[in-house]
Amino acid sequence: MARLELGDVVARFEKTFAKSLARRQEVAKYIPGGYSRHPLTFGPHALYVERGSGAYVETIDGVKLCDFHNNFSATICGHDHPAIREAVVAAAANGFSYGNPMPHEGELARLICERLPSVERIIFSCSASEAALAALRIARANTGRNRIAKFEGGYHGVADDYMLSLHPFPELFPGPPGQPIPVPNSAGIPRHVRENVVVLPQNDLEACTRILKAQAHDLACVVMELQAGAGGVIMLDKEFVAGMRALTKELGILLVIDETITFRAGYHGMQGIYGVTPDLTILGKTIGGGMPIGAIGGRADLFEMGEAGFVYHSGTHHGHPLATAAGIACLNVLDEAAYAKLDAMGQRIKTTLNTWCAEQGHPFVIYGIGSHLGYEFCDRPGREYRSCRDILRYSNEERMQIFAFEMTNRGYFPMYRGQIALSLGMGDGEIEGFLGEAMGVIGGVAE
Ligand SMILES: Cc1ncc(COP(=O)(O)O)c(C=O)c1O
Repeated sequence: MARLELGDVVARFEKTFAKSLARRQEVAKYIPGGYSRHPLTFGPHALYVERGSGAYVETIDGVKLCDFHNNFSATICGHDHPAIREAVVAAAANGFSYGNPMPHEGELARLICERLPSVERIIFSCSASEAALAALRIARANTGRNRIAKFEGGYHGVADDYMLSLHPFPELFPGPPGQPIPVPNSAGIPRHVRENVVVLPQNDLEACTRILKAQAHDLACVVMELQAGAGGVIMLDKEFVAGMRALTKELGILLVIDETITFRAGYHGMQGIYGVTPDLTILGKTIGGGMPIGAIGGRADLFEMGEAGFVYHSGTHHGHPLATAAGIACLNVLDEAAYAKLDAMGQRIKTTLNTWCAEQGHPFVIYGIGSHLGYEFCDRPGREYRSCRDILRYSNEERMQIFAFEMTNRGYFPMYRGQIALSLGMGDGEIEGFLGEAMGVIGGVAE
């Protein structure tokens, strides 16, 4: 097998997607960088998409890609799903922006509350970032405490309070593993925000207990993803999560679970799989069926202040009829059978690639829950990743880049950060195709 070199792979990528590069340069006259989301950059530039259908997107370069990215996991039904399209078109026929609530919002609320027993009340926003911010306000209002805690490697959207210690770059992880020091991931984060945020290490209950006990008097909440996504795929151990639940209860700290990505793990979310009951849950992505949405839900008593008008929550487009109609249609498609299909596809990818890599001695692992998986080129076959610092320690960035570009050159589009998200638009053909090309690329990288 010919060895794959980064330079050659990037050169082919740039040639294939030359129109996207030209488009970016043109748009960059108006939008800095050419688009309004930093993470869209895929190596040299983002790929501009013309349209999508089912498991595929077509770029303006005339290339059809099998989409293993799915907008960072949001489009779980695939693209242009007929049930979602019909729901949006039907909703749009009645108009789409009023200073009055429309019926879809309440219906989506009911569907979510029925799936997540911890969610007795819920309020919507246009993004999970806004929902994550609302969670902090609700937590502070109910506890009378000021500071918040989040995990190193945890991503909860773009708000200042969360833009700390999320990415696996060595210079951004100061402090010893058991005592991380908060560092901003963006310019422009005010000093006082840093002082109000406590950063916790993933899967280290002893360290978390020590840190939380010392800070509890002024700590309103702990925010966690059960499986981290944007900061690198790290699954928290079930026992660790149970320990954190007991500890936060004992210390009067609210536990907020961010299920923006992990809600796609199961019919009752990942909290259902873990059997954990948070005080508050942040949602987004999946619940909008591909439309912009976010939501914060939780114990009824935590929202009583909201009902009385003391915890202010608003947004011109909150509960938007097109987004909530799409969300209803999406959740109705996502029955138990749909989750079983997604899980089976994810399991097949993990088993096939990990078994083959172990046999061949390739230092590549793919892991994660359900249909959102992380992959890494690591220091040895079968490496386990237990914290975002492990990604730094054991992963080979150049090989990760070769994989992402070459898979795209071959027609399969992963997330650049070493992740894939499956959709219901996929079937055996797409999974087989992905596996075949992935083995070819892994073999070429490891030569
Ligand atoms: C776990 C998690 N929380 C919150 C967010 C923010 O969502 P949004 O982009 O809708 O603001 C994201 C986005 O990727 C996420 O992965």
